[in-house]
Amino acid sequence: MFQNFSVAINRRHFITGFGVGWVGSYLSVVIAACSSQASGNWQTIGTLDELKKKGQLLDKNSPLGPVMVVDASKTNLVAVNPTCTHAGCTVEWKGNAKKFQCPCHGAEYGIDGKVQRGPATEALRIYAAKIEGNSVLVK
Ligand code: FES
Repeated sequence: MFQNFSVAINRRHFITGFGVGWVGSYLSVVIAACSSQASGNWQTIGTLDELKKKGQLLDKNSPLGPVMVVDASKTNLVAVNPTCTHAGCTVEWKGNAKKFQCPCHGAEYGIDGKVQRGPATEALRIYAAKIEGNSVLVK
């Protein structure tokens, strides 16, 4: 009888230990995956080198949704959701005019995301942006 009790406890401890170990392993993988993409809520959108070369960064599949980062001036990064609020086209950055312009129906937005010209009536969503080392981060 004591032998069966001992076997039952050992089996229970084994199963409990296995479950805790599995959960611990799973969480460490999830945390490692998240920390490689983000620091806090900041998401890496690209590199400073890419931004300087192209004048903009576009990530349509970031965890935040579509994000466009432009270098509006030497010290002012602007990050927006580039989805036009009129009918969903992706806006383009017009650096010389310092505005976002929609190629579909001509809506225009300022660097603050506000509508400057219709047919859109709602502003683009703005994100905070910063540079860390050679990475461009957005949240
Ligand atoms: S979809 Fe942008 S103006 Fe219509």
